[in-house]
Amino acid sequence: ILIGLILVVAAYFIGNLDFAYIMVRAVKGEDVRNYGSGNAGTTNVLRTMGLKYAIPVFILDALKGSVVILAARLLGFSEAWVAAAGIAVVCGHNWPVCLGFRGGKGTATSIGVFIVFDWPIALICIAVGLIFLAIFRMMSLTSIIGMVSLPIAVLIKSIFITHGAVFTPELFFALFLCCSTVFQHRANIKRIMAGTESKVGQKVKMGG
Ligand code: G3P
Repeated sequence: ILIGLILVVAAYFIGNLDFAYIMVRAVKGEDVRNYGSGNAGTTNVLRTMGLKYAIPVFILDALKGSVVILAARLLGFSEAWVAAAGIAVVCGHNWPVCLGFRGGKGTATSIGVFIVFDWPIALICIAVGLIFLAIFRMMSLTSIIGMVSLPIAVLIKSIFITHGAVFTPELFFALFLCCSTVFQHRANIKRIMAGTESKVGQKVKMGG
């Protein structure tokens, strides 16, 4: 148990490495959370600094999630501990103690985590999200729909494909990612309902 808790704490602090914050601080000397949506994530870097900076932010935020799952698996932890580490890295990203608990919304990190944890499920959910991106052109809606489809896909897999147990660590893991993503997007959801959510391609000017 102790070694498992060390894994979870380490994963949380790896999650604290918020690359949107780090990138904007390093390049512009600014706090990305003072601009656009106020979020320290890929979409807000895209909005404020463009694709050239948003792509590495996405890759690095996803990679930290993947590294945690890979390391936990390589160290021989059970699936429940691997899932706990995945939850911890996303919590570290969303609510980083090092950044006053104001981090990102967890989409990139969740993708990185789930691509390693269960890549076919992750790819299906990414595809579902991308369909919504193509239609509605809102990153927030893409993230929400992709992540809501995660526990549904896991359930469908265990009921119709593997015919195994339903209440697995994977289902709880997927449910956590789904709920935390929806919670983190609560302001976006209000804007989507009000028809004021920003679309992909809309830019915000940053000083500095
Ligand atoms: O993952 C973040 C994205 O879904 C929304 O970001 O900056 O539009 O709130 P933002």
